[in-house]
Amino acid sequence: MTVRHFLSLMDCTQAELISLIKRGIELKSLHAQGVIYEPLKNRVLAMIFEKASTRTRVSFEAGMIQLGGQAIFLSPRDTQLGRGEPIEDSARVLSSMCDAVMIRTFDHADLETFAQYSRVPVINGLSDDLHPCQLLADMQTYLEHRGSIQGKTVAWVGDGNNMCNTFIQAAMQFDFQLRIACPEGYDPDPQFLAQAGDRVSVMRDPKEAVRGAHLINTDVWASMGQEDEAEARLKRFAPYQVTPALLDLADEQVLFMHCLPAHRGEEVSSELMEDPRSVVWDQAENRLHAQKALVEFLLVE
Ligand code: CP
Ligand code: NVA
Repeated sequence: MTVRHFLSLMDCTQAELISLIKRGIELKSLHAQGVIYEPLKNRVLAMIFEKASTRTRVSFEAGMIQLGGQAIFLSPRDTQLGRGEPIEDSARVLSSMCDAVMIRTFDHADLETFAQYSRVPVINGLSDDLHPCQLLADMQTYLEHRGSIQGKTVAWVGDGNNMCNTFIQAAMQFDFQLRIACPEGYDPDPQFLAQAGDRVSVMRDPKEAVRGAHLINTDVWASMGQEDEAEARLKRFAPYQVTPALLDLADEQVLFMHCLPAHRGEEVSSELMEDPRSVVWDQAENRLHAQKALVEFLLVE
């Protein structure tokens, strides 16, 4: 039997993604009612973090415990991976002991190599290219607040980074229009843009991107691994701050999302974080429910 991995949103069909999102909502409701549901008893998720994390780590760990299983946190500082043990070897060993492996790393190719040698599902917990788990939570959040996102207009304002690339894939899988406003030189990966065709457009003016939009997203201007560029980016991205005034140009039902952590006063104004149109705390909470649906999908026959 072939092992299912979740390295990108393209690893699932559109129908699978929709049912994952709906299942996240069901699991959230069961959890709120205090229902004990432990289909993953004795199952173990290994989690390799080569970058920092609050939400991804805690949501996977709490989620596995709530589903009756366990999660093991592995840092390259304390494992042989950090001392140069080949990814192929680590994949064979870890997947012989654990039921799934979540990896947060830099080079997306490392995830693909790990998956190739793993006998259990591998989940992308963020790479320099993509952050698909975040999009599951984001799509769940949109559905809860506004219903289906199909046919809607979504704006991305800021860096053409891993989150932006994932929104491009989401535009294909969830069938919405995406307008990306970023400074020249910070466009998303052309490979993802080419796949998406004319449902995605890149522009320079944030106002043009958000006009009439139903959802507006942003993210930090310097991602993990780009700390050296932070100062230069601060200047370059200054016209791209998302504020309540920018949202006023959008549809009156617009929502604001940010995967967090946020830098108030940089990519997002402080006021917008607390604006009624902001759903950033729901997004963060939904990481838990959406990923419980994901591990259930990957591990429960
Ligand atoms: N949004 C997100 O992935 O947060 P963490 O970096 O805290 O995991
Ligand atoms: N683009 C950000 C997302 C953090 C969740 C980063 O990669 O650091």
